[in-house]
Amino acid sequence: MASEQELQIAVAERARQLFARVREHTPSAFNMAWWSGKVMDWCMRNKAFKVEMFRFVDVLPYLTSSAAVARHLKEYFCRPEQDFPAALQWGLRWLSPDSMAAKLLAKEVRANVVRMARQFITGATPSEALPNIKRIRDKGLAFSLDLLGEATLSWPEAEAYQRRYIELLETLLSEQHRWPALGEEGTDLDWRVTPRVNISVKPSAFNPRIHPLNYAESITRTKEMMKPVFRLAKESKAFVDIDAEQYALKGLTLDLFRSILDDEEFRDFGDAGFVIQAYLRDSEKDAREMIRWARERNKPVTCRLVKGAYWDYERVVARQEGWQVPVFEEKAETDANFERVAALILENHQAVRLACASHNLRSIAFVLEYAARLGLPRNEVEYQVLFGMAEPIRVALEQEGVPLRVYATVGELIPGMAYLVRRLLENTSNESFLRRVYADNVPLEHLIEDPRERIPHPETAPPMEGG
Ligand code: FAD
Ligand code: 2OP
Repeated sequence: MASEQELQIAVAERARQLFARVREHTPSAFNMAWWSGKVMDWCMRNKAFKVEMFRFVDVLPYLTSSAAVARHLKEYFCRPEQDFPAALQWGLRWLSPDSMAAKLLAKEVRANVVRMARQFITGATPSEALPNIKRIRDKGLAFSLDLLGEATLSWPEAEAYQRRYIELLETLLSEQHRWPALGEEGTDLDWRVTPRVNISVKPSAFNPRIHPLNYAESITRTKEMMKPVFRLAKESKAFVDIDAEQYALKGLTLDLFRSILDDEEFRDFGDAGFVIQAYLRDSEKDAREMIRWARERNKPVTCRLVKGAYWDYERVVARQEGWQVPVFEEKAETDANFERVAALILENHQAVRLACASHNLRSIAFVLEYAARLGLPRNEVEYQVLFGMAEPIRVALEQEGVPLRVYATVGELIPGMAYLVRRLLENTSNESFLRRVYADNVPLEHLIEDPRERIPHPETAPPMEGG
């Protein structure tokens, strides 16, 4: 096996090659010719504007008239103490919210926010999503579909959600005969290893009362609600991934996943996946436990490795409550941990297959090189990107010829707002890889450095117990 130094040289070289493919294209989210690109640019330049923009996006779906939209815009962006330039006040400063001009401006702003949200959504219903799904598959990419609508508030809502997932699966299964399997011919499986139909589910959508303080019952009831989905997936050959949400639900979610698959009915079911968030200090410990469990089970499962989409939330909540912050607070620590956990999973690929879900070319290059160093066949490792984001990264991976899956959402705008907010936070964060490439023009060599070299205090905090 190559030495550590040789590995680092190879990773940097691989990252340079990937970069050469993405440089000349801009992700649509950062395209300044588009409204969303301009708004993101303003958010990155002006923190106060960013806060108001998030407040506005949050409330917008509940506003039923243009006058109400205009009133909120004025309230959020045109307060006397704010010093936003005229462009960032949407031209409303001197207008009454009930005037025709204000209503027209408000209508335009609403239409633009809706367009921005739709960028990440394949369709309002499963059938509406099908043309987009077909386009994804025609490009040689697989998909995972997520129904928007996490954190339901009542049992009828959760039951409706369960029914919609069954409907989603049925719609996809009835269409799959139109989609030739990806990779080699002569099999129904993509790249010979995984079903063509793949969905992602969030535990908080299946149980409105899910709570770590009510641990055992939360698992039992969520499991009962999820089992029909797993049952249909098993019977019809589809893949189910359980997404990771906030830290409070992390232990519960991993236990839920194990509890479902340890059930007699699902002991031989392997088309299932869990998620590890590398920004969590205890993620390496969790990954080791999941590997140990999968080894004992003797039927491999998949781990989607991500950095984590709730970073700002976790810090704010932990600080408010006086708890230890569960996430790393230096970006380089998260990046380094992503590589550490990726290596661990790749080394245990007979028990847990890796799905590398990142838009960061250094993180991706590390996984590509480490898998090559272990001599793993190409179809052993999957790469995943989000629909509507980071298109150049997707294209670079397509050209790499690796198994590539697009995570896409289906649903209405209101349940989609939390998802939109996470994507906006991700793009506009100071530390975002995409922002550093496409907005801040950070030099290439800095972006592809070994993240361990960037950690200001290499003696990182010890892993947290429990969780
Ligand atoms: P990068 O720009 O390299 O990393 C950004 C990430 O680094 C932030 O999102 C945050 O996690 C972390 N970070 C930012 N600032 C700091 C800091 N100061 N200190 C420490 N860490 C910091 N997320 C989930 O939570 N659950 C999921 O189930 C999930 N599924 C996903 C599926 C797919 C296919 C993809 C592509 C992503 C998914 N995500 C999920 C989102 C993911 O967690 C990341 O937020 C996102 O992809 C950005 O990471 P990156 O490697 O692309 O970019
Ligand atoms: C999210 O919902 C993609 O699961 C991730 O933000």
